[in-house]
Amino acid sequence: MCGIFGVTNDPDAAQTILAGLKRLEYRGYDSWGIAVKDHLRLKLEKHVGKISLSRTHLPSSHFGVGHTRWATHGGVTQANSHPHLDCSGKLAIVHNGIVDNWATLKKELKGHHLSSQTDSEIIAHLIERELPKGDLLSACQKTFKRLQGLNAIIVFHQDYPYLVAAKSGSPLVIGVNPGNHLISSDTASLLPLTNKVIYLEDNQIAQIFPDLVKIMSLTKQSPIKPRINIINWQAKQADKGKFAHFMLKEIYEQSQIIDLLARSKLYETEQLAKRITQADQVFTVACGTAFYAALAGQYFFSRIAKRQIIPAIGSEFYYHADFLNKKSLLIALSQSGETIDTVQSIQHAQKAGCRVIGLVNVPGSTISRLSNQTLLLEAGPEKAVASTKAFLAKLAILLLTAHQLRHQPQVGQDELHQAARVVRRVLHPDHLSRIRALSRKIVSAGNIFVLGKGQSYPAALEIALKIKEISYIHAEGVPSGELKHGPIALIQKGTPCLVLAPDDETYADIISSALEVKARGAYVIGLSPRNNPVFDYWLAVPDCSHASIIPHVVVGQLLAYYLAVKKGFDPDMPRNLAKSVTVK
Ligand code: M6R
Repeated sequence: MCGIFGVTNDPDAAQTILAGLKRLEYRGYDSWGIAVKDHLRLKLEKHVGKISLSRTHLPSSHFGVGHTRWATHGGVTQANSHPHLDCSGKLAIVHNGIVDNWATLKKELKGHHLSSQTDSEIIAHLIERELPKGDLLSACQKTFKRLQGLNAIIVFHQDYPYLVAAKSGSPLVIGVNPGNHLISSDTASLLPLTNKVIYLEDNQIAQIFPDLVKIMSLTKQSPIKPRINIINWQAKQADKGKFAHFMLKEIYEQSQIIDLLARSKLYETEQLAKRITQADQVFTVACGTAFYAALAGQYFFSRIAKRQIIPAIGSEFYYHADFLNKKSLLIALSQSGETIDTVQSIQHAQKAGCRVIGLVNVPGSTISRLSNQTLLLEAGPEKAVASTKAFLAKLAILLLTAHQLRHQPQVGQDELHQAARVVRRVLHPDHLSRIRALSRKIVSAGNIFVLGKGQSYPAALEIALKIKEISYIHAEGVPSGELKHGPIALIQKGTPCLVLAPDDETYADIISSALEVKARGAYVIGLSPRNNPVFDYWLAVPDCSHASIIPHVVVGQLLAYYLAVKKGFDPDMPRNLAKSVTVK
């Protein structure tokens, strides 16, 4: 989604903002722009497309704001990209979110010259109208309160020595850097400049001066003492290092993360298991890949601990929420900690008095602040849009918790260490060249099917999601028993079918499904510890008991990655997708 980056006193503001926007690129965007103050005058630059090797032609300046836009209202054009100006050209705004009542508000702007199709531009003109009645802060305050929907804005006026930030949904983080306070949409983008941050909460407005931050409640009109948080991530963790893409780097980090979690999360998973035992009913909620982790958790809890949990997709949670009460427990899973449907599910659950535990990767994120308790995933900054290491971290924590419920955490630890070893084998050059060769064989496919059974089913869904997200090949994860109920109609000569075949209780059934698709011409690719005559192509993946799904998913991530690279796509920034989905 859109990214915002602002500085208040930088020796080379335009360059620093450009670098900040580059660090926000991973969120997904289609155009970008920067406004700075030069000799007391606002100067603006806007572009369509990616920043990549672009330079800014703005004077260096010391004060300004930039934006990466992910189009919602209005096409991808220079006019629609941010910052947007008022009629005077002295005031610029950048905006993340959607102003639900923008059409109504726009009608009030008779006589104003609007030059874009966006909902955002009206904010600049509404503030302009209020400005003669007070100062910039009060004009922003009055305007922001009238915006309906989930929004975050930064306002910059050439005649004022501060930026104004306000939010009611999308994240905003203030970087505490004495002499040059900063503002951004996320914490990781601030790391090269500071690790001290203040999270702006919903319905708060901030005046950001170089040396000072003043925060006010928008509803109570009262000042709020800013709370400074220290972030323990290193700036270099958010770098690509020697890797061609963030996604590959993040895939490589996974075995270490699993080992780390197996060693370090005993106490926290024990506490989580206690909460689960105390609850009358347990829900999990998440979106996308995080939801597939929740689904895998359902299998872990059921098979290992004989305990039922009910997973729900964030955007569908509301329809299950009638069953929540004070004795329910909600576990919210999220890499970013900002996904709007998950955030709103939590708010909904809390209204019913339900306790919420967040399994979150980004420290200090909205979900971690909203949750009654947070268990950090400790996967480090995840920059590729396609989530990899955060998924595996969630699996590791859920698996360990399931074993905690059986009072056998040691078994969970052993399974995870074994899975980490197998992941390292999957990354051996010989194995990688087999996956790369497979990607060359199936790169022209129109459809790919991934068959799983039991706990391999969520893995099949996740592998299919990775393939479609970054290679744009249609892929479908299918519980193998469902084939005959429909999907088999799509199998033709040469259709690639990945078959997840760990040597466990599911083996016989999954092989029988493989035979059925093969009989209809499918090209059968087996992920299994042993070869089988039904496989046209075999990728050896040793079993690791309940954790077998971990290396299977890693093979799927790598296959998706090579397919994308082979097709010439950037796996880190797939079209139309954003890293954190903060608007509805
Ligand atoms: O940050 P979250 O884990 O809450 O994000 C949830 C989904 O938006 C995310 O997993 C999405 O599906 C990714 N593109 C998956 O690769």
